[in-house]
Amino acid sequence: MSRPFPDPIMAIPHRRDVPFARLTTLGVGGCCRWLFEPVSEGQVQAFVRACASAGLPWRTLGGGSNLVVLGDVDTPVLRLRLPQEPRRNGLELSAPASYGHMRLSAAAAELGLAGLEYASGIPGTVGGAMHMNAGAHGRELVDVLARYRFLSAAGELVEKAPEPGEFRYRWSVLGQGRVALGLTVRLAEGDPERIRAQVAEYRVRRGTSQPLGKRNAGCIFKNPPGQSAGRLIDQAGLKGLRVGDAEVSPAHGNFLVNHGQATAAQFAELMAAVQARVLAVHGIALEPEVEIWAAPEPIVR
Ligand code: EPU
Repeated sequence: MSRPFPDPIMAIPHRRDVPFARLTTLGVGGCCRWLFEPVSEGQVQAFVRACASAGLPWRTLGGGSNLVVLGDVDTPVLRLRLPQEPRRNGLELSAPASYGHMRLSAAAAELGLAGLEYASGIPGTVGGAMHMNAGAHGRELVDVLARYRFLSAAGELVEKAPEPGEFRYRWSVLGQGRVALGLTVRLAEGDPERIRAQVAEYRVRRGTSQPLGKRNAGCIFKNPPGQSAGRLIDQAGLKGLRVGDAEVSPAHGNFLVNHGQATAAQFAELMAAVQARVLAVHGIALEPEVEIWAAPEPIVR
């Protein structure tokens, strides 16, 4: 099994047997058998085209901050390592998909451009943020998204403005084998002092309501329409529920934290227990907000 993939794929920088504990913020999961890390859009395209023509499934990893991996993954995993820094053009800022979402927010603040303050505490990459239409504090990425670039599942390059229906609450059209390459956000002229003050206020809010000091994957379940999953879990008396080193955070019910040695199986058991209890108490079926990779195929959202 030393060269199991077509040559154009094997030509891309790659690593073998990387534990998902090192690739995700939650710190659980098995082994990533094949991690491909292209450093140019051309390499990403070569990867996707080769996979498409060989009929090979693959998965795309961003910053691993919204992901629960439940076992070993044998299918090739793509993680972009595009080296470009953000570029400013008037009120627009462009960045590659592998750029940090929080770093982009900080770069905008530095330039006195307003609109990305909401992202100041959201980890992960810009590509992951597009994939999930990440948001906080009543704002989400699509609110500032001017254009986005991606490869179709067949490897065709597309650049376009977002259209209605392509980005919704924690969902975007970028699933189903499409690979985000980069984005351009359109921001507003802002006062750097006010931007800094807003970011500081968000940081305090997060610091008091979310368990930032413990390994976690952000909110685990989607908020049901008009409800807060965290509040429902809290009201069901589940804070502090523990399976091994996996725990429903006492700080926020929708965060499951890893106290250090938690396993994927413990997280799966804890998530199922929370869903069952919330269904019994409130009659509401919570849906995962995190992406879940369970062997052998990815779960399609
Ligand atoms: N609440 C409780 N108990 C809890 C948690 C929350 O009673 O354990 C109550 C709060 O007091 C508040 C309400 O529920 O009245 C809403 O809580 P919060 O402001 O923390 O917001 P949320 O709906 O739980 C959403 C996003 C977060 C985002 C925050 C802040 C989802 C699933 N969650 O959380 O996003 O950071 O708003 O804007 O959409 C994420 O996407 O990973 C994430 C954490």
